[in-house]
Amino acid sequence: MSINQWLSQRIEKTKQAGLYRELRTMSTAPQPKMLVNGTQKIVFSSNNYLGLANDPILIEEALKTLQEFGVGSSGSRLTTGNTEWHEKLEQRIASFKRMEAALLFSSGYLANIGVLSSLPEKGDVLLSDQLNHASIIDGCRLSKAETVIYKHSDMSNLEKKLKETQTYTRRFIVTDGVFSMDGTIAPLDEIMKLSKRYDAYVIVDDAHATGVLGERGRGTSELFGVSPDVVVGTLSKAVGVEGGFVTGSRVLIDFLINHTRTFIFQTSLPPVSCGAAYTSLDIIEKSQELRERLHRQIKIIKSTLEAMGFTVYGQNTPIIPVIIGDTAKSVIFSKKLQENGIYAPAIRPPTVPKGESRIRLTVTATHNDSQVEHLLTSFKDIGRELKII
Ligand SMILES: Cc1ncc(COP(=O)(O)O)c(C=O)c1O
Repeated sequence: MSINQWLSQRIEKTKQAGLYRELRTMSTAPQPKMLVNGTQKIVFSSNNYLGLANDPILIEEALKTLQEFGVGSSGSRLTTGNTEWHEKLEQRIASFKRMEAALLFSSGYLANIGVLSSLPEKGDVLLSDQLNHASIIDGCRLSKAETVIYKHSDMSNLEKKLKETQTYTRRFIVTDGVFSMDGTIAPLDEIMKLSKRYDAYVIVDDAHATGVLGERGRGTSELFGVSPDVVVGTLSKAVGVEGGFVTGSRVLIDFLINHTRTFIFQTSLPPVSCGAAYTSLDIIEKSQELRERLHRQIKIIKSTLEAMGFTVYGQNTPIIPVIIGDTAKSVIFSKKLQENGIYAPAIRPPTVPKGESRIRLTVTATHNDSQVEHLLTSFKDIGRELKII
């Protein structure tokens, strides 16, 4: 059998299971209304939570860096790829996150894999939330430590697991700050208390919280007034650019520079991304307006959908999962939304548990009131037609 025959058989199985994925082509910059596969759609599935990916001030700053530093960095950080922009951005991230130091990675995915595969040693244990992101799961798989899963945000279950793992050399609790498929917020205050009581370190992935939660958008640490040992983040969501980072103590960063393979053996971010992200963090920290607009839209969408009779998961985050239940019905719901000019994908098993297929909405500060109104009217009409409400 040729490799292509073998792979075609595997793809066919994916199709039969209703899990085949296809790429869609966006022909416009990230904004609420985009050309998706050649048709105008209001997009309710982007991570551009504050609308900064297409912000004119960021573009202007990026153009300056682009002209001065070119399009690529030409090497890894430890060879020729460490520019003054990388260092400036790391200092900016550290001050924004109120941590001693920060280290850039090419993506949030690689930051998580890097930290989890290099920090814990053999004989240690990673206590990982059941709903953690794929990059945390993969990081745990690469780690020499053992992994123990605790029930999603269930503090009594975490405490039980902490008690059971006292014989390991070290314990690391690892959690998303905001969970990407459920829109829930990790109870970081309680996690920190348990970590003190049971002598554990805490690693938080604040990918979806950075720029969004806390008065100045510093994330879950600011929201709960706590300081975890390691905070991972991404520049690709509310910050609107690309790249990942780790923040913590200076010693932690020194350790990662020397031991983390996804940092050492990777070409560094292009300086233009660093320049744009630097300006973006300035805007995020100084201006409350975008965050306030975002949270206003979150409140309206969530409360209206709930009042209509939909089951809506999550807390006050831009991730708004509307539970449809049946997988086929979720796909039909998403198609009908598309016919109404709305792009919001259906999320199916194995990404979410069986019976919990959903439309995963995300909202941004740049969606206007009439776009939100159109979304809500469409949900009401389709929900009634499919007998969901
Ligand atoms: C919770 C979480 N962590 C990490 C990542 C990865 O971030 P990046 O897109 O920068 O690789 C994502 C992105 O989808 C995410 O949702």
